[in-house]
Amino acid sequence: MTIAVREDLDVRAVVQAAVERHGATREELVAILSDVNREMGYIPAEAFEEVSRLLQIPKAQLFSVASFYKMLAIEPRGRHVIQFCESAPCHVVGGGELWRALREELGLEPGETSADGRWTLVTTSCIGLCGVGPVIVVDDDVYGNVTPEQLPEILARYE
Ligand code: FES
Repeated sequence: MTIAVREDLDVRAVVQAAVERHGATREELVAILSDVNREMGYIPAEAFEEVSRLLQIPKAQLFSVASFYKMLAIEPRGRHVIQFCESAPCHVVGGGELWRALREELGLEPGETSADGRWTLVTTSCIGLCGVGPVIVVDDDVYGNVTPEQLPEILARYE
């Protein structure tokens, strides 16, 4: 699934709908932020302001929650997000080599988005597929037993 950044949406309306859906309580904060992230492609500053106002939670606290959860983005991401599993089990079966090749192929460091908006590269911890490590996830597609040689062919599937 392509992750589209929707600058055309009314941020306050998106936040208000998410708050109505889940309820204006702290317990629902991650669910609310996830909805906003999914609909807008990231969480714009204005959305943090609105969530802060509606839930009475300081913005600094919202930022720390958003930075903790890697599925939440506080700035626009590329059309495709590549998650690389950096946990030890994947590392020992060739993850280190794959990680070098991936950064080289994309010309990106973790957290960066390519200038053409095509890719964002992030790391993730174990996603429970260690049996087929090394693992990368492109958008919603999971690839296991990935070798550096396979990277160009995998990346070519995404425009
Ligand atoms: S360590 Fe990579 S999926 Fe578990």
